[in-house]
Amino acid sequence: MRLAMIGTGYVGLVSGACFADFGHHVTCIDADARKIEALNRGEIPIFEPGLDELVRTNVAAGRLDFSGTPDEAVREADVVFLAVGTPSRRGDGHADLQYVYAATAEIAALLRDDAVVVTKSTVPVGTGDEIERIIASLRPESGISVASNPEFMREGAAIDDFRRPNRIIVGAENDHAREVMGEVYRPLYLNQAPLVFVSRRSAELTKYAANAFLAMKITFINEMADLCEKTGANVQDIARGIGLDQRIGSKFLNAGPGFGGSCFPKDLLALAKTAQDFSTELRLVETTIYANDRRKRDMAKKVIAACGGNVRGKKIAVLGLTFKPNTDDMRDAPSISVITALIDQGAEIVGHDPVGNAQARSALGDSPVMFADDPYAAAEGADAVVIVTEWASLRALDLARLGKVMSAPVLVDLRNIYRRDEVVRAGFSYHCVGRPTEEALPSETDGHFSDLPMRA
Ligand code: UGA
Repeated sequence: MRLAMIGTGYVGLVSGACFADFGHHVTCIDADARKIEALNRGEIPIFEPGLDELVRTNVAAGRLDFSGTPDEAVREADVVFLAVGTPSRRGDGHADLQYVYAATAEIAALLRDDAVVVTKSTVPVGTGDEIERIIASLRPESGISVASNPEFMREGAAIDDFRRPNRIIVGAENDHAREVMGEVYRPLYLNQAPLVFVSRRSAELTKYAANAFLAMKITFINEMADLCEKTGANVQDIARGIGLDQRIGSKFLNAGPGFGGSCFPKDLLALAKTAQDFSTELRLVETTIYANDRRKRDMAKKVIAACGGNVRGKKIAVLGLTFKPNTDDMRDAPSISVITALIDQGAEIVGHDPVGNAQARSALGDSPVMFADDPYAAAEGADAVVIVTEWASLRALDLARLGKVMSAPVLVDLRNIYRRDEVVRAGFSYHCVGRPTEEALPSETDGHFSDLPMRA
């Protein structure tokens, strides 16, 4: 089949390369001429494990190419995917659909009469109806179909997620679109990935519901972590204890500094706005947004407390800056809130990320942050080391070496990647998330706790 992918951002580039790898012919199109030139030179604009190799082999096999204009590729395409950005609209948090509608208007005249136009971008419920209206106004006689096929891949594991999806959701309004989309995903039948056909509006909303639910799950365990810190329980035991219940499931129950990234924050905001537009209350979603924003700010307080209540003039090494490991993406990364709050309190920051130092430098703008290429250099003379993102290279630091170069051995582990006993044995004062410290264990005479059954 011939596919055209409009937009070579994260979703467009990974899906385009994966579709080509299935055996389809894919042209990835982007208005950014420099990006296309770079892709044509074999340079991949994002860090995603395995993507450069996948692009290289499929370009070499003649199945994948790149173009700055839609003309030729869209004229020939059975399916045109829209994978342009849908950022938060400045000022109100609604999804900004200008790129989706501009791309629709641009391709309308070029589409084959039997083409299927598919949104892969995350778009609010009803966007497909508007795309259909735009196309119908420009191509009144055509039989062009509009479908929705949201993408559920995670950054850092995107290729694997695409090849082995839990499910493929296709929202389509006619048999032709359903048949064509069945063909597009036929190579995945072998993996027995469930292909779920629903209405277009349901598909659009499923994407937001999935992200909102996952974000809520994280926020729930984060709030439980706060309660654990007050009560002496261990959030990792709670996560395991509830996660073994198959109705709950064990994934996305890692307490941490709050969720970030290019999707959850903007999608939750957009979903809340959609609900307002339809006069419906989504209180859980609204509370999740509020609780997560507050949590990200509150993480700096944890660091300040670990430093004895004051960070003025203190040097703090912040390790792991991207919003999660295996990506160079800094969008809404918790590290930004932590670093800016610590700078406001007079701290001096040295950051280190295994991949994202340059991206962090630009995301932090004017903030006076120094950067180091390795964690030990960042920790040189530091009064505390704070781990914000759980990169593999930060999971097995040589603690003795780290402690030696620091001026005070304080480790704040916002991802719970270390065991307390090993860190304490290495001479550190250790602070983590939702796991009890000796100091935090409530005494038997501690207020309301005496009303509760005694712990074993
Ligand atoms: C998320 C979804 O997981 C994907 O299914 C979806 O396709 C994607 O958004 C999207 O809409 O495009 P992604 O943002 O790449 O994927 O990253 P996640 O792995 O979901 O992590 C999001 C944030 O949650 C990160 O800041 C991560 O550190 C945090 N998180 C995740 C936790 O704090 N605890 C957890 O247990 C899991």
